[in-house]
Amino acid sequence: MATMHAQGAAEWAWWIGLLLGAAPLLALAAWHCNDVGHCAAFAMRRWRRDRRARLPPGHMGLPLVGESLALLWYFKLARRPDGFVDAKRRRYGAGGVYRTHLFGSPTVLVCSPAANKFVLQSSSQDGTFGVRWPAPELVGVSSVVNVHGGQHARLRGFILAAINRPGSLRTIAEVVQPRVVAALRSWADKGTIAAATEIKKVTFENICKMFVSMDPSPLTDMIDGWFAGLVAGFRAFPLDLPGTAYRHARACRRKLDAVFREELQRRRRRKETTLDVDGDLMSGLMQMEDEQGKKLCDDEVVDNIVSLVVAGYESTSNAIMWAAYHLAKSPHALRKLREENESISRDKNGGFITLDDIPSMKYTAKVVEETIRVANIAPMVYRVAHRDVEYRGYTIPRGWRVVVWLRSLHTDANYYDDPLSFNPDRWDKPPKPGTYQVFGGGPRICAGNMLARLQLTIMLHHLAVGYKWELLNPNAEVTYLPHSKPVDGAAMSFSKLSSG
Ligand code: HEM
Repeated sequence: MATMHAQGAAEWAWWIGLLLGAAPLLALAAWHCNDVGHCAAFAMRRWRRDRRARLPPGHMGLPLVGESLALLWYFKLARRPDGFVDAKRRRYGAGGVYRTHLFGSPTVLVCSPAANKFVLQSSSQDGTFGVRWPAPELVGVSSVVNVHGGQHARLRGFILAAINRPGSLRTIAEVVQPRVVAALRSWADKGTIAAATEIKKVTFENICKMFVSMDPSPLTDMIDGWFAGLVAGFRAFPLDLPGTAYRHARACRRKLDAVFREELQRRRRRKETTLDVDGDLMSGLMQMEDEQGKKLCDDEVVDNIVSLVVAGYESTSNAIMWAAYHLAKSPHALRKLREENESISRDKNGGFITLDDIPSMKYTAKVVEETIRVANIAPMVYRVAHRDVEYRGYTIPRGWRVVVWLRSLHTDANYYDDPLSFNPDRWDKPPKPGTYQVFGGGPRICAGNMLARLQLTIMLHHLAVGYKWELLNPNAEVTYLPHSKPVDGAAMSFSKLSSG
């Protein structure tokens, strides 16, 4: 009996050993075959036209999942977001163009100043690369981020005029400051804050004011919640079933649509009786005309309000949080920032700053650029190849995704000394050409870049002249997905300067 048991156990051990030994071998075989399969499919398609055509170096990873798990590992577990690209550089050379397979699509990853520029400067108009946002219906098909060619240029012109040109920035500077000042006062009353949460709150209140002239109310709280649901939908699998994040996002989008359409109607009704204009983004978009005298239709106005909130809300809040975080860790930079802003404040008898003050805020501008560089708010942007595109002897095949990895430029020691350290003084010299792409580049370069800089400048001014703050957990770990953030939300003690 005992011998039979021993034989059974040995058999089990043999099978388990076989399985454990074979699984990695099978995975390795699948890994190789997947790459060979993709290369062979490409070669067969191009065979007749050009026998020398070749894919960029790299690897397509495992079947179906490609290299997505490796990418997630670097971002989520290893917390080294540049590790994915660094590994490619080590294995396949420093060319900055690699083949891979990410999130269900064969992909070419570009990560050098020249390759990034090449992709960003091209567009769907010249038939090379187009933008493809996940779930375009969520942000709106007539949103500036989803349209192309002449329609894109026309819409972009409207948006730039409404939020990113000196005329509109001058008004925005006036509109946002009372709320910033009130928010800082309330943080000091609290004494301890989670900066990420508080900054989001004041940024959203200002967005509501700038874009649709809405003051904080239960409705704006609901709008905030609907935006959170909408944004979660972009990151979710597009499965429209009860309980899924995608279905919830669609419901949120419908509610946002209804609120903004109602607001449009209200403004039209009111305009029949008065010539009063709100002077916000919505009225700007409603009134603008192109060269042919054509105005935007309601769908375009609503889709673009929604997409501008999506593009400008988290990004700006995040940048402001990182500015406060880095300044808390850099007393030298904070002292210089304070000196400059106190001098401006004295000249204005403590009044609000205006757009005319910005050119003299030279050190503040360095803090702004350095914050956006180190924070890498938009680590990468996405394109799709509309045709086979040749680049430096490699082919980016039609239909493949292109990931333009912006962040690796800003964290590369070849371009920035000690790149991970926060050092506004490095901006005494301009960066090397092509190495600063925080806002992207080419025809799709961020349409709110000056607005983002202005909001940061205003916040830095009021923080520096009136307050002091200290991180409660200066060594808190940083998470990188969906955005980079200290795990404690940058918890800090916060008080008025004069009280200290
Ligand atoms: C620090 C803050 C910000 C960063 C780092 C940032 C970054 C970017 C980047 C990298 C792109 C290029 C996307 C691409 O090429 O596909 C972009 C596009 C865009 N951004 Fe920003 N952004 C910021 C703030 C804002 C703000 C405040 C707004 C407006 C309220 C805004 C509106 C837009 C729009 C509309 C586009 C699309 C432009 C187009 O397709 O023509 N962004 N942004």
